[in-house]
Amino acid sequence: MSSDNGAANSMWGGRFAAGPSAIMEAINASIGFDQRLAPQDITGSRAHAAMLAATGIISAEDAAAIDGGLAQVLGEIENGRFEFSAALEDIHMNVEARLQQIIGAPAGRLHTARSRNDQVAVDFRIWVRNQCDAAIAGLEALMRAYLAQAEEGADWVMPGFTHLQTAQPVTWGHHMLAYVEMFARDKGRFEDARARMNECPLGAAALAGTSFPIDRQMTADALGFERPTANSLDTVSDRDFALEFLAASSICAMHLSRFAEELVIWSSAQFRFVRMSDQFSTGSSIMPQKRNPDAAELLRAKLGRILGATVALFTVMKGLPLAYSKDMQEDKEQVFDAADTLMLGLAAMEGMVRDLSANRAALEAAAASGFSTATDLADWLVRELGLPFREAHHVTGSLVKLAEDKGCDLPDLSLAEMQKVHGEITDAVYSVLGVQNSVASRISYGGTAPANVRAQIARWKEVLG
Ligand code: ARG
Repeated sequence: MSSDNGAANSMWGGRFAAGPSAIMEAINASIGFDQRLAPQDITGSRAHAAMLAATGIISAEDAAAIDGGLAQVLGEIENGRFEFSAALEDIHMNVEARLQQIIGAPAGRLHTARSRNDQVAVDFRIWVRNQCDAAIAGLEALMRAYLAQAEEGADWVMPGFTHLQTAQPVTWGHHMLAYVEMFARDKGRFEDARARMNECPLGAAALAGTSFPIDRQMTADALGFERPTANSLDTVSDRDFALEFLAASSICAMHLSRFAEELVIWSSAQFRFVRMSDQFSTGSSIMPQKRNPDAAELLRAKLGRILGATVALFTVMKGLPLAYSKDMQEDKEQVFDAADTLMLGLAAMEGMVRDLSANRAALEAAAASGFSTATDLADWLVRELGLPFREAHHVTGSLVKLAEDKGCDLPDLSLAEMQKVHGEITDAVYSVLGVQNSVASRISYGGTAPANVRAQIARWKEVLG
């Protein structure tokens, strides 16, 4: 990147005798990161030039020269032949200065009826909108991976936990579908944010609009926006779209971190619920037996960066008066990093889920331990013996204590032992103590029964197409 501190800036040098100090340039320049907006900047400028010609604000010849020149600039940037200059501060001025070199005088007409304030707003909105689309596609792929897991083990039993203590048996399919629900909500948040941000800032100019007869609907249409934004002051000072993207990303990353944590626990030698593929495990340089879930651990941690970016941008925006302030230049690095982190996280999780092999035998063995069918037993006492639930809870508690003292599970108690606790218990009780029966009985809507899981899988397959 080149820098030239001697001369006054060519874009506003009229009232400046000298250029900025090196430190001023270092704090002011955004080209180091906003060069990422080059495609969006050039697309926005081409739409703006076409509109300026269509409304007679510039000539068709000048617009054609601008359009051809911008296409060339884009080509140079894409081929890595473009020399970005910190003295030119940002992507907008870098592109325009190069356009000037290529086409000469007509380049000076491009910035008519426009400011960098609406220019950066439109560039960044298009970029964030693209990222919403990418996140939506990434989430759909991830949901499909969970769905495949759910389908394979729709009726595999495993322990369901509350407080990470064995609670009641659930099905593997049900557990996988819980994440499908979460990621579907995330997808909905990106869709909602995308719809709300899809208004075009171009034409708000510096802050007050313009006296030129521009056609804002035309540029909005050309750039795929629903309509132009309605208030120029709001337009150049609004970064809600970026905040919404970050908020949706944070919630999504929180979901990723939760499954990542389950993977870390489940893949441990103590649980052995799952085996992660070689492709998503790492070894230890000293302990040959190790298979470390590094990717899952990193995903557990990544929310820190994304939430950090969210907090950072909120802090930048808080208390800013209308309209544009340079503070807002601090928006981009946060969003870029969060978006990159999210996309990598979604891809990594999709890979891990696709490759994951659940250990059905270990899941089933664990499901039956820890008195996981105690609730089924209490429910049986209510249903078959007519006990009030509180009494049934108490009787069951005594039976659990008895089993615990004997060092066995509930189904291992003899009928005689059970009848000592409650005389009316019959051997029909054993049917509800099995984990398969337990999950099969949970047919209430949203419950864990394999029949429900299969119905939900069918629904999600239809939704995802
Ligand atoms: N680089 C600036 C940013 O990212 C572009 C807008 C500059 N506007 C201005 N009035 N200096 O926010």
